[in-house]
Amino acid sequence: MKKRFLLKAGAASLVAAGTTPLFAPSLAFGQGQIVIKFSHVVAPDTPKGKGADKFKALAEQYTNGAVKVEVYPNSQLYKDKEEVEALQLGAVQMLAPSLAKFGPLGAREFEVFDLPYILPDKAALRRVTDGALGAKLFKKLDTKGIAGLAYWDNGFKIMSANRPLHEPADFHGLKMRIQSSKVLEAQFKALGALPQVLPFSDVYQAMQTGVVDGSENTPSNMYTQKHHEVQKFGTLSNHGYIGYAVIANKKFWDGMPDDVRAQCVRAMQEATAFANDSAQQDNDDAMAAMRASGKIEFFELTPEQKADWHKALDPVTAEMTPRVGKETVDEFKKEVGSVT
Ligand code: LMR
Repeated sequence: MKKRFLLKAGAASLVAAGTTPLFAPSLAFGQGQIVIKFSHVVAPDTPKGKGADKFKALAEQYTNGAVKVEVYPNSQLYKDKEEVEALQLGAVQMLAPSLAKFGPLGAREFEVFDLPYILPDKAALRRVTDGALGAKLFKKLDTKGIAGLAYWDNGFKIMSANRPLHEPADFHGLKMRIQSSKVLEAQFKALGALPQVLPFSDVYQAMQTGVVDGSENTPSNMYTQKHHEVQKFGTLSNHGYIGYAVIANKKFWDGMPDDVRAQCVRAMQEATAFANDSAQQDNDDAMAAMRASGKIEFFELTPEQKADWHKALDPVTAEMTPRVGKETVDEFKKEVGSVT
């Protein structure tokens, strides 16, 4: 007969069969199973979705089935805000929220990634995420009961709306959906738009019904949510970046048997390399598919227009530095190489 042991908070989904002690390493015998619920808000066919599926395959393989990873994509379980609460309560064990969604948790330093034009390219991004600042940001999550496991890439953002967006003035009065980041709020205010926080899963309908006029996102997110079917114009602005922090309920993660956790860490390292190597291709493919659909028209900024966008958006960094933290902004700039 099977018995279920429900532990407090983080260990809620640790399930042991029969008389197997709860934390006994089960790699050799396969008698117990640790279930990891991994919830996320995007489609399976995106950089994050593929990373989660890769982690599942590898973690199950490397632990000989001692770990079972259940991936719940597309906000099936929780929307943006609720998923973080669910993780802290232990209703799910893993997430990979966008870096723009850590502010409401009190980890405002993560909003440094949202500052307009702060990342010149992906190589600079890696220097931050793989370096001292990446580790320091994860340390901040410890006190919130969260373990930072890895940084996953998505890509640079483009703008979309039902009006062509060539000059900053074109944003004037537009209702633009944002993620829950104060930096993104400041960014759209600097453009004269009206930012509106909405969960990712609500964006398509909000665009379709005119609740918002436009948004910013990566091509892979836009395409898999069909935003290009309800937005007439896109601008390849690359003004900002979307990436993820893969996180776990700390009590759960630390409570796994050492040998099981070591195999999960190994699976995470390989899933991270896989996700980060394939993200650009996913975004390139999504751009090609949206262009081929004929439903949305894309626009590249001229050098003069780019200069105008910079003029409008560059002041956002100084404005938001007190919120994000001067030390974090300075360290970030140093690591990306824009300040020596
Ligand atoms: C968004 O809310 O636009 C994105 O952060 C969704 C995601 O997780 O990529």
